[in-house]
Amino acid sequence: MPVQQRLLSHFAGRTDRGSQGSGWAELWDNDESDLWDRGQPSVALIDWIESRPDSLPKPAHGRRLRALVPGCGKGYDVAMLALHGFDVFGLEISSIGGKTAEAYVEKELADPHEYNFASSDAAPRNGIGKVEIIVGDFFDRLWEQNTVDDGTTGFDLIYDYTFLCALPAMLRKDWARRMSELLTPQGVLVCLEFPLYKGADEPGPPWPLKGVYWNLLAEGGDGTPKEAEAATRSSNGMFVRVAYFKPPRSHSNGRGTDMLSVWRRKD
Ligand SMILES: C[S@@+](CC[C@H](N)C(=O)[O-])C[C@H]1O[C@@H](n2cnc3c(N)ncnc32)[C@H](O)[C@@H]1O
Repeated sequence: MPVQQRLLSHFAGRTDRGSQGSGWAELWDNDESDLWDRGQPSVALIDWIESRPDSLPKPAHGRRLRALVPGCGKGYDVAMLALHGFDVFGLEISSIGGKTAEAYVEKELADPHEYNFASSDAAPRNGIGKVEIIVGDFFDRLWEQNTVDDGTTGFDLIYDYTFLCALPAMLRKDWARRMSELLTPQGVLVCLEFPLYKGADEPGPPWPLKGVYWNLLAEGGDGTPKEAEAATRSSNGMFVRVAYFKPPRSHSNGRGTDMLSVWRRKD
């Protein structure tokens, strides 16, 4: 069965919230992570971090910037961010996924691939950050207690790639609310928007996301943008978009349509 078809058929009968997380965990249990695995970190994120360090919040004295990668999969972006000096938390709903990420990160931090860097002098002056992989559900608050450091909570950078598109539309508003809860006031939510080439009515995962981040984060919508409503769109969302561009490089499966958006909380 073709890869795309296998993911669609696995989730086809899972129409309720409760069966989403277990659906992903089953795929890990059955050793089917190749259905979405890209084999390396996001070059679009690497390029942005290395070329626009001024876009990141200023770290408080004596501490590194803290990053979260929800639905981190094998941990490619987790390891890459740590190699760029962030303290990084990778969150996975599957315990097998979490173990797989731990093993990858340990190996990668000891002997990094060149693919983690765009520029040969990009290694951070303050060295490699700490990594913690947490097994938990993004929509629960339970796992957050494992991220408290020096009495502070919250993340300076959250990276969404193939996480929102892994979730059906009914979870989108909660995804946006959780992002606003987890980000520090100066923090940035960085989204590599994928897939943008799919029609709004096509099934997922990956669920089509054209216009979805804007609708959720800027307009405060439910994440199901309708063309017909364009004239009455609001700006009631919890976020403001501070950057939006087509990254010079991205994963090939985005078919040249991926966009990178950067968001800050309004308050
Ligand atoms: C499409 S995969 C993408 C993985 C990774 N971002 C990558 O690029 O390889 C989605 C991941 O999200 C995880 N996941 C799904 N629902 C989750 C949830 N509610 N909380 C945490 N992780 C979740 C799945 O187990 C899966 O590893």
